[in-house]
Amino acid sequence: MTDIVEATEQDDGPYIFRRWAFWPALVGAVSITAGLAFGYDQGVIGGALTFMQDEFGFGSFVEGLITSWVTVGALFGALAGGALADRFSRKRALILAAYLFIIGAIVQAVAPTVLILIVGRFVIGFGVGVASVAAPMFVAESAAPDIRGRLVSGFQLAITIGILAAQFADYLLSESGTWRLMVGLAAIPGLLLLIVMTPARHSPRWLVSVGRLDDARDALSKYRGPKVDADAQIAEIEENLADEPDSNWGDLLVGGARRALVIAVGLALFQQITGINAIIYYSNEILADAGFNDASSQAGASLVAVGCVNVAATFIALAFVDRLGRRPLLIAGMAGMLLGLVGMSITFLFEAQPDNINTIVGSLSVIWMVVYVASFAFSLGPVVWTIISEVFPNHIRAKGMSLATAVNWGAAFVLTLLFPNLIDWIGNSATFAILAVFTVIAMGWTWLNVPETKGKSLEEIAQMFERDDLEARSSAGES
Ligand code: BGC
Repeated sequence: MTDIVEATEQDDGPYIFRRWAFWPALVGAVSITAGLAFGYDQGVIGGALTFMQDEFGFGSFVEGLITSWVTVGALFGALAGGALADRFSRKRALILAAYLFIIGAIVQAVAPTVLILIVGRFVIGFGVGVASVAAPMFVAESAAPDIRGRLVSGFQLAITIGILAAQFADYLLSESGTWRLMVGLAAIPGLLLLIVMTPARHSPRWLVSVGRLDDARDALSKYRGPKVDADAQIAEIEENLADEPDSNWGDLLVGGARRALVIAVGLALFQQITGINAIIYYSNEILADAGFNDASSQAGASLVAVGCVNVAATFIALAFVDRLGRRPLLIAGMAGMLLGLVGMSITFLFEAQPDNINTIVGSLSVIWMVVYVASFAFSLGPVVWTIISEVFPNHIRAKGMSLATAVNWGAAFVLTLLFPNLIDWIGNSATFAILAVFTVIAMGWTWLNVPETKGKSLEEIAQMFERDDLEARSSAGES
C-alpha cells in the first residue's frame, strides 16, 4: 500500500517516466513481440521460396503447401488458443506460443527434407494462431480503457513491422540465397516474447475468473496504475462473471454474446476478403503485370509501396483510435481501400498496351496500391483486432475470439489460394473489381452493425450489448 501511495506522489512527470509506467509498457511489449512474430512468419516466405525450390526441386503443389501451411497452422492454433487461454491462462498460452515460434523456426532452418520443412511451417503457424488470440486478449484485459485501443493497435503495428523486417531480410539475404537464415531468424521475436512474458502478471480478468482476488488486485494496480480503484474493478468483473459462471460454445449464440459474435466474425471475415493478403503476397506479380520488368525493381517497389506504407499508416490508427474512435477510422479507411481497388481495376484495363502507356500504368498501379495499403493500415488492420478483443463478455471472450480469429485465418487461406487463379481466369481488372464489391459490402455492413466502443470498460461494452439484445427482442415481441 505504501508503495502505491509513494508511487502516486512521484508519478507526476511525463507518462513514460512515471514509475508504474513499466507495467503498461510491459503490456505494450507483449503486443509488440507477439505481433512481430506474427508478421515475420507471414511475410518471410515470399523471398525464401525460390531458394527452397532450387534446393529441393518441388512443384507448384508443394509450393502452395509450403506457402499456406502457416495459415493452416494458425487456423488450428486460433481454435486451440481460446481453450488454452482459459484453462492455463493468457500468459501461459503466450509462453507456449513463444516456444512454438522458436521450435518452428529451428525446425525450418535445419530441415533436411520438404516434409520436415512443412512440419516446421505448421508448428510456427500454430504458434501464430495461439498468439493472435491470446495476445490481443491479454492486452485488452490488462490495459486501462483509455489506452486499450492504442495498446491493441500496437499489435497491428508490430505485425506490419514484422512483415517489413521479413521483406528486408529476404532482400538482404537474396544475394547469398541463404533461405535457412531467412526462416531461422523467426526465432528472435519468439525469444523476445518469452523474455517479455516471464515477469508479466496474469491478466486481471483471468485471475478473477479463477478466484485469485489478491493477485488480481495486485495485477490491476500494476497494469492500470496506482490510482485505479482495484476493488471496484474486481467487483465489476465478478458481477459480469457471476451472470454466466461456466461457458460453453452454445453461449455464443445467446443474448449480448450473439451480437458480439456477429460483429467479431463479420469484421474478421471482411478484413480478409477485401484482399489485403492477396495484395501483400502477390505484390511482385501485380507490379510485374504493371510493367516492373525485373525482380529487383519489383522487390524495391513492393518494399516501399507495401512494407513501409503499411508500417507508417498504422501510426494514424495509434494516434486516433482512442480519440476519434473505432467507427470513423473503419469507415474512412474502407473508403480509401475502395478508391485504391477501383483505381487498380480501371488502371489494369489498360495493361498490355504499347510501352509508353505501360509506364503510366505501372506508376498509377503503384499509387493505387499505396492508397489501398495505407487505408487498410489505419482501419481494418488494427481496428479489427481491437474490436474482436473487446466485444465479448468476460466469460465467453476466449471462445469468441478463438472462433473469430479462426475465421480470419480460414478466409486468409482461401483468398491467398484463390487469388492467383482468379487473376488467370478473369484477369487483374475483374479481380480487383470483385474485391471492390466486397469492400462496399463491408462498409455498409460496418455502418449498420458496428457500435463505437472507445473509452468504455469491457464490462460496459458487455452491458451495452446485453441491453441492445433485450431491446431487439422486446421490439420483435411487440411487433
Ligand atoms: C491481418 C493480416 C495481414 C496484416 C497486414 C493483419 O491485421 O490480420 O492478415 O497480413 O494485417 O498488415
